[in-house]
Amino acid sequence: MKVAVIGSGGREHAIALTISKSKNLSELYCIPGNPGTKNFANNVQLNTNQSESIVQFSIDNQIDLVVIGPEQPLVDGLSDELRRNNIKVFGPSSEAAKIESSKSFAKKIMNEANVPTSKYREFTSSEIDDAKKYLSTCNFPIVIKADGLAAGKGVVICRDLDEALDNLFKITINKVFGDAGNKILVEEFLNGEEASVFAITDGKIFITLPAAQDHKRVGDNDTGKNTGGMGAYAPTPLITPELELVIQQKIIKPVIDQLNKAGIPFIGCLYAGLMITADGPKVIEFNCRFGDPETQVVLPLLDGDFLEILYSAAAGKLNSNAVKYNGGSAVCVVAASKGYPDRYEKGFQISGLDIEDPEIIIYHAGTVEKDGQIVTKGGRVLGITAVLRENNIRNARNKVYEVLKKIRFKNIYYRNDIALKA
Ligand code: AMP
Ligand code: GLY
Repeated sequence: MKVAVIGSGGREHAIALTISKSKNLSELYCIPGNPGTKNFANNVQLNTNQSESIVQFSIDNQIDLVVIGPEQPLVDGLSDELRRNNIKVFGPSSEAAKIESSKSFAKKIMNEANVPTSKYREFTSSEIDDAKKYLSTCNFPIVIKADGLAAGKGVVICRDLDEALDNLFKITINKVFGDAGNKILVEEFLNGEEASVFAITDGKIFITLPAAQDHKRVGDNDTGKNTGGMGAYAPTPLITPELELVIQQKIIKPVIDQLNKAGIPFIGCLYAGLMITADGPKVIEFNCRFGDPETQVVLPLLDGDFLEILYSAAAGKLNSNAVKYNGGSAVCVVAASKGYPDRYEKGFQISGLDIEDPEIIIYHAGTVEKDGQIVTKGGRVLGITAVLRENNIRNARNKVYEVLKKIRFKNIYYRNDIALKA
């Protein structure tokens, strides 16, 4: 099979690397890929926002499967455009991707399907007075969310009424999250520990992969700003086999069925962001794609043929037995540029990338090759990941922090407490 992976981050590096191990693969392209994927795939420099060029490339190169990594091209309809041209795609239609691109849509589907999630009210920007009135009746803390896509930043937890009114104003009038704030949700605050569960589905049936925990805040002990994710580990001991069953039956299945009933089947990876509360798991959000950095720890824990599970989902006939959990464990620490998620400098040479250790994977996320050297190009630069055949997060954690001492670039920053909770 000839396969193209769309995207350039650590997630896409992990997806492509796992696909590259399939015996069914003949040719692997990464569009545009990164210096890490260049070691085992063909990087192709096309603009992922221009669906025509990706469709044309897929036709010209007789691509059997396109795997779309990031949410933006999905929301923009890249999979629809490819399917119109009879190209198989792992990734939902633009309509189904609304489960991520509209929090209001996600809540509607969840309520119709009776899926446990926080109570909420929604207000458009012309209903600010109603929102103010409602906030004055709420218990705090409360969560205010912009309805649309805001690169993981459109969520604020407000400790009191003043903070809530201030954020209401910032989102709906100052438009700090742009048009994403044309509608807002005011949500009940959930207490508990978070977990990410990926379901791979052909639109009808699904399998779930080992559950992971992300670390979204920039600082140790979950302090500071929200980021795209500073590290992850899997499997998380938080999700017991009994809890996994509850998540499959009370959350994933009803949502897939409800989307189907609404005539918008979801084909791809349905990502459930969960809060494990005293009353059981509740949905914080759904995403329409694999999570990053969770993918960097989850995929190396799969035995079997990852390409087969993706292809069979895309073809509408999921082969549920194509992959299974191998009993191992993995910890990923993101090496970032100091200053991220705000301003940071880039263009610094990276050393230590030549580590040869079968238990270590160095995923590239924000790097670029310049005059034969690999230099920093983004906020999240590398995902340093230890993968063990045994389920021992402590050992994996120790291993990854040993290796991190050997990775060097100017202004390197990483959290020191990844996986400590586990
Ligand atoms: P989201 O982008 O919806 O995943 O929200 C980002 C982060 O905000 C989540 O990972 C949680 O840590 C936090 N969060 C979002 N919604 C809630 C909620 N209803 N209760 C508590 N924390 C929340
Ligand atoms: N790790 C969070 C996300 O991918 O949205």
